[in-house]
Amino acid sequence: MSILIKNIRGIIQAGDDVPQFRAGAEMSVLSVIENGWILTEDEKIAGYGRMVQMPSGVTADEVIDASGRFVLPSFCDSHTHIVYAGSRELEYMDKIRGLSYEEIARRGGGILNSAELLRETSEDELYRQSMERINEIIGFGTGAVEIKSGYGLDTESELKMLRVIRRISESSPIEVKPTFLGAHAIPAEYRNNREGYIDLIINEMIPRVASEDLADYIDVFCDKGFFTVDETEQILMAGIKYGLRPKLHANELGFSGGIQTGVKYNALSVDHLEFTGDDEIEALLGSDTMPTLLPGAAFFLGMTDPPVRKMINAGLPVALASDYNPGSSPQGNMKLIMSFGCIKLRMLPAEVINAVTINSAYAMGISDTHGSITRGKVANLIITKEIPSYEFLPYAYGSNLVERVVLKGEVS
Ligand code: NIG
Ligand code: FE
Repeated sequence: MSILIKNIRGIIQAGDDVPQFRAGAEMSVLSVIENGWILTEDEKIAGYGRMVQMPSGVTADEVIDASGRFVLPSFCDSHTHIVYAGSRELEYMDKIRGLSYEEIARRGGGILNSAELLRETSEDELYRQSMERINEIIGFGTGAVEIKSGYGLDTESELKMLRVIRRISESSPIEVKPTFLGAHAIPAEYRNNREGYIDLIINEMIPRVASEDLADYIDVFCDKGFFTVDETEQILMAGIKYGLRPKLHANELGFSGGIQTGVKYNALSVDHLEFTGDDEIEALLGSDTMPTLLPGAAFFLGMTDPPVRKMINAGLPVALASDYNPGSSPQGNMKLIMSFGCIKLRMLPAEVINAVTINSAYAMGISDTHGSITRGKVANLIITKEIPSYEFLPYAYGSNLVERVVLKGEVS
C-alpha cells in the first residue's frame, strides 16, 4: 500500500536531520515545508518535499489532495492510564464540592476505587472499554501511546491489565509502549503493611511481568502520601535488574525528591513536575531524562502549574502528555493538551508541537521511528482540516481540526 499526499499547505516537523528531542531555545524551532508532498510506502515514509521539486512520475495506490491543509506527525502520548474500568464522575462531584485529590484518596476513593472496579471486570470487558478510548484518541490524531498498569494492585490483576495492553498493541495500528506501575498506591488489604506490598511488587510482580515480557518500563508514584524516595529506589532497583527502565510519577503533590531519584536511576522521563525548583532543574540539566508535563491533570484538579518557562529558559527540553486516566485527566485529546500548554504554561505553538511529537516520542523510547516526518520512520500522519496556519491548532482549542489520520501507512 502506498499513499501520495499532494498540494499540502504546510508539512510540519519534516526533515531527515530532526534531532532525538529539542531543548531550551531550540524548542521553538519547527521546520515547515510550504506547498509540499509526502509519499508513504507500506508502513514507512518514503519521501517528501516541495511540490515544485516532486520527481515526475511519482504515483501511489491512493492519492490525497491536501490543498489548504497541514500535515504533521501523529501525536505521541507518552503517559496514559487508558486501560481502566468504569469511570469516577462521583468523585468529580466531590472535587467540585471542595475535597482535594489527596482527601479523596485517603477516604478510599481515587486509585483504590478504580482498583476495586478493575478487579471485578473481566479481561475481555476491560479490553472492550479500553479499545473505545483507543479508537477515540486515534481519531484525535494520536499515533503512539504509552499505557501503564496500576489499577490492579494485586499480581493477577496487574498482569490482567498488562495483557490487555498487549492485546491493544496486537490488534490496533496505534504504537503501544507498556509500563508496569504496581506502585501506584498501597491497596486496601495492605493498608497496615506497606512493606508487605512493596515486597510483593519486588519479589512476585516484577519477576512475573518480566517472565511474560509484558512491560518495557517501570513507574512508581513517588509523591507525598504515596511512595517515599526510599521505597521508590527499592522498587526501581528491582525493576532495573529485570531490564525495566524507570519512568516516574514525580513532584505532583510536593517536593517529593522524585525528580532527583528519576535522574539518579536514569529514568527515561519524570512526569507531572508541578513542584519543580532550582535544585530539580539543576538535577535534570545534562541528564537523559525527559521532563514531562501533564497540564490536563493540573487543569482538572485545579492545581498549581509547573514553572515551564523557567525550565525551558534554563535549557531543558519538555514533553507534554495527556495522563488519560479516570481520576485526574479523563480525556486524551492531545490537541487540547497543546492548548493547555500554550494557555496555562505559556508555551508557544512551535514549542508545544515539539513537546507532543519528537520530545514525547523520546519520552516513550521511540524517537528513532516516530515523532517526525523523516524518510524511513513509521508513516503516522495527521492531515488537518483547512486551517490558516499551524498556530491555529492550539488556538482553536475546542475544535477538532483533524480530518484524516494515517497510521502505519494506512488511512485509519
Ligand atoms: O497520573 N498521579 C497518579 N496517578 C494518576 C491518577 C490516577 C487516578 O487518580 O486514578 C495521575 O494523575
Ligand atoms: Fe499518571
